[in-house]
Amino acid sequence: MRKLLFFTNNNNKLVEVNQLFKDLKTELILPSKFNFFDEPEETGYTFAENAKIKSSFGYKNFGVECFAEDSGICIEALGWKPGVYSKRFLNRFKDNFRCFENIIDRVKVTGKVRAYFQTSVCLTLNKNYHLVFEGKVKGTISKKIRGKSGFGYDPIFIPDGELKTFSQMSKMQKNKTSHRSIAINKLINFLSN
Ligand code: IMP
Repeated sequence: MRKLLFFTNNNNKLVEVNQLFKDLKTELILPSKFNFFDEPEETGYTFAENAKIKSSFGYKNFGVECFAEDSGICIEALGWKPGVYSKRFLNRFKDNFRCFENIIDRVKVTGKVRAYFQTSVCLTLNKNYHLVFEGKVKGTISKKIRGKSGFGYDPIFIPDGELKTFSQMSKMQKNKTSHRSIAINKLINFLSN
């Protein structure tokens, strides 16, 4: 069976990715299984750059084929930010609730409701061979914080064509439309061929 390192310490991402990988004859290895919790600094200006920094770091430390992903939300009312700074933006607030209230206020003031989530997955097959797979889902910021499941900005994002936020959906429902599932399914398609 093919062994592939998924370089992440984010359990929420892992749960979503595991569900997509379940029918593939590939064993996903995690850095945490080896008590490895080091992470490189995410100095990139794009999701793809950061994904490559992480997958290269994983490959360098474990010497096996490795993929990593970087993702975030881009919000029209914030000038299409925070993008690659999504995690850092959330951490600027005392809690997620305050961050969401701030975003919803900005949407009300500007009247700009659009947003999208993006994921870049980078697969590092050797030191000089990297492949990037992209996923994007467009939608709107909800008027209220809704739902309990998921993580990050899920409680305020409604994908186009849906009435629920990502947080109100089951993992399986989110995986049908999400940015992460689009990118990961491209990776799976590559690995299967
Ligand atoms: P990173 O990719 O680990 O740098 O983190 C990106 C940040 O973007 C996360 O900490 C979340 O706040 C946010 N994010 C990424 N993907 C999702 C998602 O699927 N739902 C909600 N928030 C997300």
